[in-house]
Amino acid sequence: MSKKLFLETLGCAMNSRDSEHIIAELHEKEGYETTDDITTADLILINTCSVREKPVAKLFSELGVFNKKRKEGAKIGVCGCTASHLGEEIIKRAPYVSFVLGARNVSKITEVLHKDKAVEIDINYDESEFAFNDFRTSPYKAYINVSIGCDKACTYCIVPKTRGEEISIPIELILREAQKAVERGAKEVFLLGQNVNNYGRRFSGEHEKVNFTELLRRLSAIDGLERIRFTSPHPFHMDDEFLSEFASNPKICKSMHMPLQSGSSKVLKDMKRGYTKEWFLNRVEKLKALCPEVSVSTDIIVAFPGESDEEFEDTLDVMRRVKFDQIFSFKYSPRPETEAEHFTNVVDEDVASMRLTTLQNLATDILDEKNKMQLGKVYRVYFEELNQDYFVSGRSDNNLLIKVKGSDELLGEFRNVKITAIGRTILSGEVVG
Ligand code: 5AD
Ligand code: SF4
Repeated sequence: MSKKLFLETLGCAMNSRDSEHIIAELHEKEGYETTDDITTADLILINTCSVREKPVAKLFSELGVFNKKRKEGAKIGVCGCTASHLGEEIIKRAPYVSFVLGARNVSKITEVLHKDKAVEIDINYDESEFAFNDFRTSPYKAYINVSIGCDKACTYCIVPKTRGEEISIPIELILREAQKAVERGAKEVFLLGQNVNNYGRRFSGEHEKVNFTELLRRLSAIDGLERIRFTSPHPFHMDDEFLSEFASNPKICKSMHMPLQSGSSKVLKDMKRGYTKEWFLNRVEKLKALCPEVSVSTDIIVAFPGESDEEFEDTLDVMRRVKFDQIFSFKYSPRPETEAEHFTNVVDEDVASMRLTTLQNLATDILDEKNKMQLGKVYRVYFEELNQDYFVSGRSDNNLLIKVKGSDELLGEFRNVKITAIGRTILSGEVVG
């Protein structure tokens, strides 16, 4: 009988891809199969996120639950960003944990498995050319890493300390991955990097130096590949060449994530984001001029240390002007080993909560207003998921989540869909061609 792996993944798309790598390595080299039933698992893994404090605090209560539920002899391992940042402390606080594997040490999973109390968290470890075994959660789309780590120094962010310096993955490896995915039936690739459009700055060996725009061009030459998405681009690196390739290349999906973080130039400076409110608005304006159908999503942090009422108003002002199609919003959470951790002009918790509510209400109003205009529109949808009650869902080019009545015959297929009903998270429609 095969050994069973239970794996819980938290955090970003990068973590989801790391989990695919972990599953592939454990399957090929150790014969593990995944299970959803923790009580039957021989190995229990949690792939953690440390970007905000709350999930980190939750980790230990979750580990306690794992410990109670595990069958006798089952091992527990902690992977990902919190593993990188807490390291050995995890085993001190939860002695039943067998190993700790950092976000930059994924390829060592089969090594740590056989060592007791191993802690592998070296953030200088270079996995940019490691040949991971193959595993994909979805046959319809393939996540492909284009770089590891992050070279920015945003003052609130722990990621450079958990994923190390930025190294680009050689273009030939990326193209090969995409080609392989297409041969296996995927029509969409999803490129991943902490600053995906900073691609090509540094490679670990001698490789052809191409930038992100050129990478997009080369990928779109692959026959059978119909859609390219990517996350997360950085507004600072959105030069004109990149924006015009984005707008004119029909294979690039017309949805752009533009993490604003704050609409105030003063706060942006304190965050060391490298751009101003005006630069951000200018990039959005240019993008929308080149590509009127684009949808724009963003990340926003409220109540960063020192943020005044007026500065928060600047964020609302950008919201009203850009009319984001989706926002991910957070209260500032101080993180260890970051510059902002030492900032003393902390915003009151009550004020922070109020700002978050104000921001989210505005985002909902904007979305409701935009959604009203969707009725009757027709979108080309790529179907990826079978839901309950005979619904199949997928995404439009500009990233709207749309469901129709149908069966698995639609999976992996493109159809034109007319929108017939509006929901906040998903639109409903009917296939019209
Ligand atoms: N506090 C709150 N939100 C944060 N993010 C990153 N670091 C912090 C922090 N210390 C948010 C940013 C980022 C998203 C992934 O998480 O908005 O874009
Ligand atoms: Fe979380 Fe950031 Fe790590 Fe992703 S890279 S798992 S968002 S801390």
